[in-house]
Amino acid sequence: MRVGVLTGGGDCPGLNAVIRAIVRKGERHYGDELVGFLDAWDGVLDRRTVPLSVEFMRGMLPRGGTVLGTRRGSPFDTEDGVERVKQTMSDLGLDGLIVIGGNGSLSVACRLHSEHNIPIVGVPKTIDNDIVGTDVTFGFNTAVQIATDAIDRLHTTAESHDRVMVVEVMGRHTGWIATSAGIAGGATAVLIPEIPFDIDELCARLSRRHDRGRFASIVVVAEGSEPIPGTLEMEDKVLDRFGHVVLGGVATRIAIAIGKRTGFEARVVQLGHVQRGGTPTAFDRVLSTRFGVAAIDAVHDEAWGKMAVLRGEKILQEDLTVAVGKTRTVDMDLYEGVAKHFFA
Ligand code: F6P
Repeated sequence: MRVGVLTGGGDCPGLNAVIRAIVRKGERHYGDELVGFLDAWDGVLDRRTVPLSVEFMRGMLPRGGTVLGTRRGSPFDTEDGVERVKQTMSDLGLDGLIVIGGNGSLSVACRLHSEHNIPIVGVPKTIDNDIVGTDVTFGFNTAVQIATDAIDRLHTTAESHDRVMVVEVMGRHTGWIATSAGIAGGATAVLIPEIPFDIDELCARLSRRHDRGRFASIVVVAEGSEPIPGTLEMEDKVLDRFGHVVLGGVATRIAIAIGKRTGFEARVVQLGHVQRGGTPTAFDRVLSTRFGVAAIDAVHDEAWGKMAVLRGEKILQEDLTVAVGKTRTVDMDLYEGVAKHFFA
């Protein structure tokens, strides 16, 4: 078969490992020809491609980012976008397309399949771990490890200076990274988008801790966290060219408020894209490899409209429709049932 591959949305450690696995099993096992599209859907629309081979992917298993490049945006943004996708696929003689992406890219893939009958298979990707249908996405484990390493380091400097460190981690709609890194790093408090936070209550907790002789604290906040309406002034929202809210800065508002209300010295660490760059952990390399193998198998099963998912220990095929328009929020057994027991 001739199979196209693209990576869409934000990059994520493990993308190259997925592509490598698709190419390895596709070329060596099935005798496929693999075509990579550059810069996500832009490459499909403008027919910018690169031939993918085992040779081309050599050394890519541990490498962060994506050799194909990635963008936001969709063929549905332009009037003739869908026709151009069909034309490209037919001109290149493609039997199917593998889309490795997050909620946005998988929604596009789902529509192209269900409304336009384009043969597509998906692979869920995001460090945020918020895709419905899979127990976990690759990249998440790496992001949690990076955030945990940072928190470990922050403890000693916070203790030396008797400071509150407010650590902002990624997590647009969900607090998976914040909750997991907060547990792993022994945070004093974890604020997540699922539960609007009460700044007064947070300050009261930090003060009680202070009264007990614990002068250093680590507050972990997911970038998408919001205060209870009307309780803390926030920055105006800035949009990128795709209408995506550019997040980042909630930790600064919180640190300023802590300083003003408690008198404690507070500092901000915004981890940002450090969490998305660099080499994937061993866990993510294994998961990415399994997803890649499952994706090329799904193409040969002609399981169009499906995506590879992890359920327990098994990789399965799930309908793309399961993921579309939904967000997998933090398990409250983990947040309320575990993390909260360790808060101040
Ligand atoms: O991929 C998800 C994510 O990492 C979010 O956690 C974050 O809000 C967003 O991407 C950042 O996107 P960009 O790189 O476009 O600023």
